[in-house]
Amino acid sequence: MDSDLYSILVQKAWFVVILVIAILGNGELVRGDIEHAGRKLAVDNNPGFISIDCGSDEDYIDMGTNISYVSDKELIDTGIVRAISPDLSENLPQFAKNLRSFPLGTRNCYTLRPEQGKNNNYLIRATFLYGNYDGENRQPVFDLHLGVNAWKTVNLTNTDAFRYYYEDIIHVPLTDYIDVCLINTGHGVPFISSLELRLLDNSIYQTQGRALVKIWGYDVGRNDSENAFRYPYDVYDRIWSPLLFNIWIPVATNSTVYSPSNDNPYKLPDVVLRTAAKTQNATTPLSVYWSPPDSLSKYYAYFHFAEIEKLKAGQQRELTINLNNERNLTESVKLDYLNPRTIVQNDPPISGKQDSLFNICS
Ligand SMILES: *[C@@H]1O[C@H](CO)[C@@H](O)[C@H](O)[C@H]1NC(C)=O
Ligand SMILES: *[C@@H]1O[C@H](CO)[C@@H](O)[C@H](O)[C@H]1NC(C)=O
Ligand SMILES: *[C@@H]1O[C@H](CO)[C@@H](O)[C@H](O)[C@H]1NC(C)=O
Ligand SMILES: *[C@@H]1O[C@H](CO)[C@@H](O)[C@H](O)[C@H]1NC(C)=O
Ligand SMILES: *[C@@H]1O[C@H](CO)[C@@H](O)[C@H](O)[C@H]1NC(C)=O
Ligand SMILES: *[C@@H]1O[C@H](CO)[C@@H](O)[C@H](O)[C@H]1NC(C)=O
Repeated sequence: MDSDLYSILVQKAWFVVILVIAILGNGELVRGDIEHAGRKLAVDNNPGFISIDCGSDEDYIDMGTNISYVSDKELIDTGIVRAISPDLSENLPQFAKNLRSFPLGTRNCYTLRPEQGKNNNYLIRATFLYGNYDGENRQPVFDLHLGVNAWKTVNLTNTDAFRYYYEDIIHVPLTDYIDVCLINTGHGVPFISSLELRLLDNSIYQTQGRALVKIWGYDVGRNDSENAFRYPYDVYDRIWSPLLFNIWIPVATNSTVYSPSNDNPYKLPDVVLRTAAKTQNATTPLSVYWSPPDSLSKYYAYFHFAEIEKLKAGQQRELTINLNNERNLTESVKLDYLNPRTIVQNDPPISGKQDSLFNICS
């Protein structure tokens, strides 16, 4: 037996986070034929960020994140400012306490004008918290569009009215402005709590002329009872939700996880990389089920790994990733101690199939 291979520890490898993103279903984003009434937003103290608190009367800095929010009162001419019940809003972040609703018109738009302009990569996030603001106890269903293209149907039926829901999309605009529109589809009055834009590195989450809708992004190995991390931990303000199943063994480190060359443009938050999960033994793969929302879209997956256990000299964790035990998504990958490694699965993208399974194997 090859002595180098022999010395490799064949123990379960672990992954840290996954992001699966679907290409926007209806093709290339094209310039819309819409009135662009939006004004340039105030530049805040978070470069590359636009953060709009819809329905807020004032600009402020959020204490939890240090993000500077601007009121939307000078950014949109339509809609009505509403507030959720104050006694129920106490523990909610400021941006969730008020909203703008659009009882009139089928299509109401915000126009974002990022300083960096067209041909740059942006993460755009729309957040919704119903909070029974209208006293009707009926959560609406409406559509979100990016320009003239369908982004997502926001269906808040059967959701917790006092939790906020968000939709993320990644997009390289061909114009210096981006329209985000709420479309009344006859299932209640559309509303929005906040609208945010974050400048990304152009080399990551490449969109190839299309837009990518985020499906999920997990901080693997962190107990679900803990909070999700976002800015300032994540410089791009991605949201990392905790994920830990009972059959997984959580592992954690207090050491800093970093790229020696500091050249990983994904800029994973150290705090997210410090937790991970593994299985009982090398013969059991670490498996994650996921259900593609539809079968027509193509999906990209981004896996981020880091060795965070100090192994004996000469031992090294090695892994492969397969899809449904059918297709290997990567060659064998070796992990180095405290050194993050990103595996991008985008060529070819994954096609929609119900109940898919990522297996991470030794
Ligand atoms: C916000 O900024 C203040 C002042 O710079 C700092 O003390 C505080 O720790 C920051 N809060 C967060 C959550 O980063
Ligand atoms: C919204 O989701 C519920 C299930 O939670 C479903 O029954 C309903 O048909 C959906 N509404 C629309 C308009 O799609
Ligand atoms: C998460 O933490 C809770 C409370 O500390 C604990 O009961 C639960 O078992 C933990 N979950 C996992 C998967 O470890
Ligand atoms: C990290 O530090 C905390 C606080 O000092 C300690 O409780 C915890 O056990 C440490 N975790 C690891 C993995 O060393
Ligand atoms: C590995 O773990 C699985 C599930 O925990 C168990 O069924 C199996 O017997 C174990 N294999 C070895 C070689 O220990
Ligand atoms: C996937 O990789 C594993 C480990 O390298 C190998 O044993 C297996 O044959 C490969 N499967 C396919 C379908 O190529």
